[in-house]
Amino acid sequence: MTIIVTGGAGFIGSNFVFHMLNKYPDYRIVCLDCLTYAGNLSTLAPVMDNPNFRFVKESITDREAVYKLFEEEKPDMVVNFAAESHVDRSIENPEVFLDTNIKGTAVLMDACRKYGIKRYHQVSTDEVYGDLPLDRPDLFFTEETPIHTSSPYSSSKAAADLLVQAYHRTYGLPVTISRCSNNYGPYHFPEKLIPLMIANALNDKPLPVYGKGENVRDWLYVEDHCKAIDLIIHNGRVGEVYNIGGHNEMTNIDIVKIICKELGKPESLITYVADRKGHDMRYAIDPTKIHNELGWLPETKFADGIKKTIKWYLENKEWWETIISGEYQNYYEKMYANR
Ligand code: NAD
Ligand code: DAU
Repeated sequence: MTIIVTGGAGFIGSNFVFHMLNKYPDYRIVCLDCLTYAGNLSTLAPVMDNPNFRFVKESITDREAVYKLFEEEKPDMVVNFAAESHVDRSIENPEVFLDTNIKGTAVLMDACRKYGIKRYHQVSTDEVYGDLPLDRPDLFFTEETPIHTSSPYSSSKAAADLLVQAYHRTYGLPVTISRCSNNYGPYHFPEKLIPLMIANALNDKPLPVYGKGENVRDWLYVEDHCKAIDLIIHNGRVGEVYNIGGHNEMTNIDIVKIICKELGKPESLITYVADRKGHDMRYAIDPTKIHNELGWLPETKFADGIKKTIKWYLENKEWWETIISGEYQNYYEKMYANR
């Protein structure tokens, strides 16, 4: 079994690469990643010498490079994590989101059609469903919830999902799609809420909370997401969408306060800043389908997952300090200067 994992040098993709190489010692895992600001080859250092692993630095938007890789590897499956993934960046500059998230997905699927494939899996997001109101805790996203996006990021992911479904219906491509809630855990890029707050708190820097901090996200430990995708690519029904979520809704402000408490830092570091444009209020996934069909349930309680995550950031300071001292610094200063 040869699986091309795109975006495997990023947060969830790298955790998935580790999960697959550990669990399936006879599988070949080929990581295709062009190493944007969010891709980090040092993350993959532990597997670089594994004979069942290959890293290829190319973009999923480069048709020639993608076809060449398919010719060389003759993959059985493709799991597409590669994407521009940060909502704030999509608000600043949507174009690259359209290129990678939409065109890149089409190029990968064209390669799958041309060379044949057992499964193309699209890693999507609960953000394609838009948001839910705070005063309706009875509402959840199901796989039937209409697509109703808010940001350029979520719109590009929704467009990709629609293309994946079109390639299934039109060309009979054997696809599956998963739509997951917010992940957290090791190797999470420190522009996202949890790792940003950990890094800033450790450096005694202000903790910038957008708006009133009332927005709700449904947090899932990254390993649980990887296990869900593993189940879907092996046992999920072709043509289907599977929601993945932890039934673990929390407000942003509560998350930041937990991080302060775990690190022994004062809540006076919390700084309320201007809200994100078009900020989604609440995400909440109903994961009944994947539970009933594939027996998946989240295994990591948030109280344990956040402790593990903070421990990882404490023990791997070099990983994130290198990031925040580089080009990222310019982004951070620009994003937060006027808030
Ligand atoms: P990330 O930003 O940490 O990593 C993205 C990776 O994709 C990086 O390694 C980057 O170099 C690579 N990449 C970007 N453009 C590429 C291109 N054109 N060609 C090849 N590689 C490219 O993202 P993440 O948080 O790990 O998210 C992975 C996937 O999961 C994305 O598709 C995202 O939409 C989805 N998702 C993320 C979350 C979350 O909470 N992080 C939740 C649900 C779904
Ligand atoms: O729901 C899945 C999505 O989760 C994925 O599709 C995205 O790729 C991923 O980035 C994530 O999107 P969010 O926008 O929810 O994540 P982010 O970490 O950027 O923000 C989480 C919440 O925290 C959100 O309400 C905005 C808020 N926030 C974020 C940052 C970076 C702050 O209050 N302050 C901040 O500095």
